[in-house]
Amino acid sequence: MPNIHTPVITIDGPTASGKGTVAQKVAQHLGFHYLDSGALYRLTALSALRRNTALDDEHALAKVARNLHCQFDGGHIFLSKEDVTEAIRAEIVGNTASKIAALMPVRQALYGLQLGFHRAPGLVADGRDMGTVIFPHAVLKVFLTASVAARAERRYKQLIDKGFSANMQDLSKDLSERDDRDTHRSSAPLKAAEGAYLLDTSELTAEQAVEQVLNWYAVVKPIVKQQ
Ligand code: DC
Repeated sequence: MPNIHTPVITIDGPTASGKGTVAQKVAQHLGFHYLDSGALYRLTALSALRRNTALDDEHALAKVARNLHCQFDGGHIFLSKEDVTEAIRAEIVGNTASKIAALMPVRQALYGLQLGFHRAPGLVADGRDMGTVIFPHAVLKVFLTASVAARAERRYKQLIDKGFSANMQDLSKDLSERDDRDTHRSSAPLKAAEGAYLLDTSELTAEQAVEQVLNWYAVVKPIVKQQ
């Protein structure tokens, strides 16, 4: 059972800012659970694409989100027992996720599922609204940024490594469009939570970013213990 004293660290930021890698490594280091909230939107998108659900039917999409049979197991993500770890990373799935994530009924449908990840001894959650909406009482909130050029390059490498084809120009355009959609939607837009620490990772390695987050956590940890 989580309780309000079980610490949560939120790491929000735009797509390909490195938040997934940083959040996972911070969770590993602290022995905490890890929530990749973007994966839930991606799973909903994949499921909707496969069922041919109309992408403007917010109630049908919310139903898909409510009925997700997903499982996170040692870095692998399953949808109805099928390993979709790679499939949900395809650009079409990411773009569809960004579109359906703008719909309030979809966000509401995924709310409880996200809270369920808050378990002892602690949680590191990454996404767009972890610090602003889902875990507003998080003990440490981080907002990761990086230039579009740095993010496009990272995404390019990720896709090529995974055997997908990719083109830098298309990726930069896609990233900018997705940023614009995630930032300007009316429901839970991407923005830094009040009191969030800002971390620009354009010139940092993942290890340097992880170290900075752990240093910040070391400062707030004594406060968590006193609560
Ligand atoms: O982090 P990601 O790229 O895997 O997320 C995919 C999409 O899901 C992203 O474009 C916006 C959406 N998303 C969201 O709206 N809220 C979150 N907490 C996480 C992701």
